[in-house]
Amino acid sequence: MTTLSDDAKRQGERVGLNVDTITIHGGKPLIGRVDVRGAKNLVTKAMVAALLGDGPSVLRGVPAISDVAIVRGLLEAHGVRITDTGDGELTMDPSNVRSAHFAEIDAHAGSSRIPILFCGPLLHQLGEAFIPDLGGCRIGDRPINFHLDALRAFGAKVTKLPQGIHLTAPERLRGAEIDLPFPSVGATEQVLLSAVRAEGVTELKNAAIEPEIMDLISILQKMGAVIWVEPNRTIFIEGVDRLGGYEHRALFDRNEAASWAAAALATKGDIFVAGAKQPELLTFLNVFRKVGGEFTVMEDGIRFWHPGGPLKPVIVETDVHPGFMTDWQQPLVVAMSQAEGQSIVHETVYENRFGFTDSLNAMGANIVVHQDGIASITRRVPRRALEQAAVITGPTPLHGADIRVPDLRGGFSHLIAALAADGTSTISNVGIIARGYEHFIDKLRDLGADFETAD
Ligand code: EPU
Repeated sequence: MTTLSDDAKRQGERVGLNVDTITIHGGKPLIGRVDVRGAKNLVTKAMVAALLGDGPSVLRGVPAISDVAIVRGLLEAHGVRITDTGDGELTMDPSNVRSAHFAEIDAHAGSSRIPILFCGPLLHQLGEAFIPDLGGCRIGDRPINFHLDALRAFGAKVTKLPQGIHLTAPERLRGAEIDLPFPSVGATEQVLLSAVRAEGVTELKNAAIEPEIMDLISILQKMGAVIWVEPNRTIFIEGVDRLGGYEHRALFDRNEAASWAAAALATKGDIFVAGAKQPELLTFLNVFRKVGGEFTVMEDGIRFWHPGGPLKPVIVETDVHPGFMTDWQQPLVVAMSQAEGQSIVHETVYENRFGFTDSLNAMGANIVVHQDGIASITRRVPRRALEQAAVITGPTPLHGADIRVPDLRGGFSHLIAALAADGTSTISNVGIIARGYEHFIDKLRDLGADFETAD
């Protein structure tokens, strides 16, 4: 059985990071500049989209993170020729796409959830697809029922096997009417990647409209797709017979940008996040300001800093776009633990995304997680049974502790807490952070953090 620590090691190794543990001497503000490149949650999908073309695609701004390495391995296993200029530009040529063996796919897939998105493109190209057991961060059940229901609606035959799922399309996929029970990011991408080359029109209701999805739609349009985004979360896709390659610069990673902003606030620092843009961060910036952080939007990035004085408590509810993203809450909770009063974070997207708060409490925070969430009348999406709420009472001084990284965003919040705390913390399993944060150890060093690493 693969343990969390084996997985962490593998994630790091995929990007040449042979570090398991980082020992941080906290209490120093992070000051300086970090560069943020393409969004993990767009780049990996854009790479899958390259499979749909009948010519090469060029993607720019690709970060060196392990999720990208996983998708690259999977594409190569399916015969896609990939060249890499070394500065974030990938050329992907799908002219010789072929089926891959179960074992080969399984070896490359690792703990990522991206393999599920290979279904539509492989069904179009080869008439079959194999999807191994899916991983991803352990932040809830993370089922794939919406994906499989959509693929069946397009005419795919789904067979569950002990090793994973085998899909076949005896005929060309055909357009379908799909109404998602929740505006799922992954399921919306599944429908887009399957519908663009299906026969006829697909109507997708209750679609996710995150900026990464809009960027994926832009890529598909460059390839020749016809996609109409209507009001009220409805997307119409007119299927076409063939698609070409694309050239595209990936949207910046707004989750990474928000994480560094939170690090600046919690450590009383000052960080210029080069590459960050305002429109995709509007909601985050509102909350950042309400907690007491300052920012200045500049042409080539956003500067985030702690202006001195006390931080203020806030109440936020995670939501689908344009709401407050679930991925932003973990890094920001550390700053909330330093605010004067009670903050509340109501998590409405995942059922288990407060596991990281145990370690924060071990470092001196006062965070109580209520499993049944909080009833609110202003919800944009229907209330679901899985909701949780965390009540954070501050300010509580943080002190060093020994911590194991549980998942990607939770892990980054542990780094921030250790950087903000008095004393020394030892954080293990840091390879998991390489899934979504490019060169994070070098960036921490450049920002003046005081730490040592060990294999
Ligand atoms: N869901 C189902 N059935 C499905 C699919 C989703 O019940 O078939 C549920 C999920 O269990 C969850 C909710 O729907 O409760 C939302 O899941 P969604 O499908 O929107 O998320 P995802 O596509 O699996 C992506 C990002 C996440 C990000 C979410 C929400 C990628 C690779 N992952 O996940 O990012 O939190 O959208 O914006 O794009 C991260 O970057 O750390 C991360 C977890």
